[in-house]
Formats: sequence, structure tokens, C-alpha cells
Amino acid sequence: MSNNLVAVAYLVAIVLFILSLGGLSNQESAKRGNVYGIIGMVIALVATALSSQLTAYGLLVAAILPAVAIGGLVASRVEMTEMPELVAILHSFVGLAAVLVGLASYLGPDPTLVGAEETIHKLEIYIGIFIGALTFTGSVVAFGKLRTIISSKPLMLPARHLLNVAMLVGTVILGVGFMAAEGTDGFNYVLGMVAIASLLGIHLVAAIGGADMPVVISMLNSYSGWAAAAAGFMLSNDLLIVTGALVGSSGAILSYIMCEAMNRSFFSVILGGFGQGSGKGSSKAVEGTVTETDVNETIDLLADAQSVIITPGYGMAVAQAQHAVSDITRLLTQRGVNVRFGIHPVAGRLPGHMNVLLAEANVPYDIVLEMDEINEDFSETDVVLVIGANDTVNPSAMEDPESPIAGMPVLEVWKARNVVVMKRGMSAGYAGVANPLFFKENTQMLFGDAKANTNAILGRLQESATEQPKLVTA
Ligand code: TAP
Repeated sequence: MSNNLVAVAYLVAIVLFILSLGGLSNQESAKRGNVYGIIGMVIALVATALSSQLTAYGLLVAAILPAVAIGGLVASRVEMTEMPELVAILHSFVGLAAVLVGLASYLGPDPTLVGAEETIHKLEIYIGIFIGALTFTGSVVAFGKLRTIISSKPLMLPARHLLNVAMLVGTVILGVGFMAAEGTDGFNYVLGMVAIASLLGIHLVAAIGGADMPVVISMLNSYSGWAAAAAGFMLSNDLLIVTGALVGSSGAILSYIMCEAMNRSFFSVILGGFGQGSGKGSSKAVEGTVTETDVNETIDLLADAQSVIITPGYGMAVAQAQHAVSDITRLLTQRGVNVRFGIHPVAGRLPGHMNVLLAEANVPYDIVLEMDEINEDFSETDVVLVIGANDTVNPSAMEDPESPIAGMPVLEVWKARNVVVMKRGMSAGYAGVANPLFFKENTQMLFGDAKANTNAILGRLQESATEQPKLVTA
């Protein structure tokens, strides 16, 4: 394939990637966005494989075939609840690839690069390897935290900020030696930097607490983009530079949005130490009386309700209760009840988690509202069904300044006339914070698996729909 044709193919792929990102910003166009992305990636792969730069087809096939098989298998088997872990580990691969590309570029230098060009290339290699190593270890720690192999509590080393600064200064000092070294003599400097950057990646992510993990995921997404862009510079591949920059900047914007949603400063989160409260340890234990309810009483509440808001959380995803929830919504709506959904920006374990599940279960988009759009309506709502949500409906975020989630905006469900919380027991959510909502006078706990309970509610609603057809107004 001629260089011109490859350039045109790359341009088409870039445009498709941009269209893909645009499509993914909206639920209705998300599928189309995905298709654009897939086509763009196929074009990019084929054009790269057919470019004149590439000759080692044996190696290419040996690398790509097992990768395609493993990737396909893993993606087809992964549960929706495990997606964040998959994303985290995939980010780590991008980081590792940037490190390996950087080391290979350094050890096999391009003899045509001399003077300023050679200096710039060495700088690209150094920075690229630094971002790659940081992304690699940071993503592995994030994977461990999301899979609960590693505690989600923030690691609070003494003088941790000083430690970070010392590590940064160390990489700069090694960088000076690296830049001054002739040929490949700077290899030991770069290995030293890889060790420091790897420790920095571990430390930065380990210092971030449970509730702030959404920001970590989007931040590592951004880092992996910059690592790919750096690899693009090292390989002089325009497509990789642009694609990396697209991922890097969209990840940075997502991190910003996540920080806004959680009322956190971006820099405080990336410098670590959030999610542990105001330094005084864990949240207060909550005491009081819990009112238990059952399916029949919940049906009675729903029968009298004019307005219902459903606030789903991670537990709905675990239980896979979205289809039953969708059918309940349909039946209640047919009875003339105003049913809407309130979605917290960090509900579940990945951005847009709840929206994806509800879309999969064919819940109409127009009744699925963001937290900001629905928070004022709780006080005029008859019944709120909290399905497997916990941190995102925790009033201590607003009421307890010592709470690890203090300041995070939450769905103010307790303002409704009746709140039914569906979960299996009294355990805390991801942030490990006790929830006073469960002890409020207007809250009733419907214990059990969310799927079993929503199916039971659905069954009863269907029975009453056939028993009392006059209620069904369509
Ligand atoms: P969580 O606070 O994690 O609470 C989920 C609740 O679901 C748990 O308390 C659990 O209680 C219940 N549950 C689990 N399995 C269930 C089942 N089968 N049936 C019924 N209930 C079940 O959920 P949330 O309100 O969605 O908040 C999300 C949390 O995750 C936030 O802290 C957020 O910061 C964090 N996080 C979010 C993301 C993104 S990007 N969204 C990424 C990482 C972390 P029981 O065990 O008692 O049933």
C-alpha cells in the first residue's frame, strides 16, 4: 500500500473515531458510535498491516491471532459488573506497551535522526516510558481495588505528598543523565526511571479511597491515551498520536465531570488521600431502629402512589434485576403512575453503568433522569424504590462533615413520603460508609436479592392486573 493511501486510510479512521466519540455521548446514538469505532479500528489495523513499513508478517500474525482470540473470549465472558476491572487491566496493557515501545525505540535508534531531532526523540522516549510505567502499575492497583484483591481504603503513608515530589524530582535527575548519555549508554537511567514511575503509579492510586475510584478509572483512561500518543511520537505514527490524544483528552474531560459530580477538586483526587474522611478515620456508626417490610406491603404502597422514583445502584447490576424493574415500570405506568428513574453519576461501577442496564431492558430514555434533574422532585414523590443503591443515596454525605463521602452530592431520596430500600442486609456500599437512610422513619427495608424481590413485586402486579382489568388504562 502506498504511503499516500495509508495516510488517507488513517485520516478516515481518525474521522470515524471522532464520530464514534460524538455518538457515545448520547444513549440513542451510542450503538452507532460503537459501529463507527469498530469500522475505524478495522481500517486502522488493515492500513497499518499493509503499509510499506511493515514486513515481518509472521511476527504480526503470531501476535495478533492469539490477541484476537483472548480478547474476544474475555469480552464475551465478562459480566457487566466486571467491566470496570476489565477496563482497568486493558489500560495497564496500553501503559506496558508504551514502556516496551519506548525501550525498543531507544535500543534500536533511528540513524537518520541527528542533532535536535535526536534530542527531541530521546525526550519523547523518556516521557513516553514514564507515562507508560505510571499507567501500567496504577492500572494494576486499580484492577486489584475494583476486584477487592486490594483493600479499597486509601493508603495513607506519612509525608505522602513529599514522597510523590521526591519521586518526580528523582525522575527529572535521571532524565538529565539520560539526555546527556551517548548512544544507548543511558539505558540504566531509563531503567531507574521505570522503577520510580512504577512506584509512583502504585502510590498515587493506592492513596485514593473507595468512593473516589470513579475518578481513578477515568484518570487512568486519560493516562493510557497519553501513553498511546507518546508511543505514536516514538514510532512517528500520526494515527496513534491523534487517537491517543483523543482518548487522553476525553478521559481528562470525563475525570473532570466525575470530580464535579462528586464535588471533589481534580488535583486533590489525583494527589491522593481522598475517600478517608477528614483524617479522623472512618464514618460514624449509625444507631436506630430499622423498619422491615415485605413484598405485600410494598405492593400496597405502590398501589396508593401517584408518583414513584426508582434509584438503582450497583446491587441492581449484581442481581441483574433491570428487566423485572423495566416490567414493573411498564405496569405502573399503565396504571397511570408517574414512574421515573433518578441516576447518580457514579452509581454502579463504571460511568453510565445504570443507563446501559436500563437501556438494555428497554426502559424509555425520557424517564431516566440525571441526579440534578430529579433531586428537587423527591419531596413531592409518594414512593422511592432504592434498588441496590447505597453510597449514592447516603444522607451522611450532606449531614456528616466527618464522613468519607462528605460533600458528595447524593440523591435526596429521604425527602420522599415513603422510601423502600431493596438490599440483602445492612452492609455498607463501596465506600464502606454506614447509611443513616436505613434508620429514617419514612424508610422501610425490603431485604433480599433485588432480582428475587423485583420479580415477586412484578408477579403480584401482573396478578392484580389480570384480577382488576379496570385498573389497566393503557
Ligand atoms: P454501592 O454503594 O456500592 O452499594 C451497592 C449495594 O448493593 C450494597 O450496599 C449491597 O448491599 C447491595 N447489593 C449487592 N448485591 C445485591 C443484590 N444481589 N441484591 C440487592 N442488593 C444488592 O452502590 P451505589 O449506590 O451504586 O454506589 C456506587 C459506589 O461505587 C460509589 O461509592 C462510587 O463512588 C463507587 N464506584 C463507582 C464507580 C463508577 S464509575 N460508577 C467506579 C468505582 C467505584 P447488601 O450487600 O446488603 O445487599
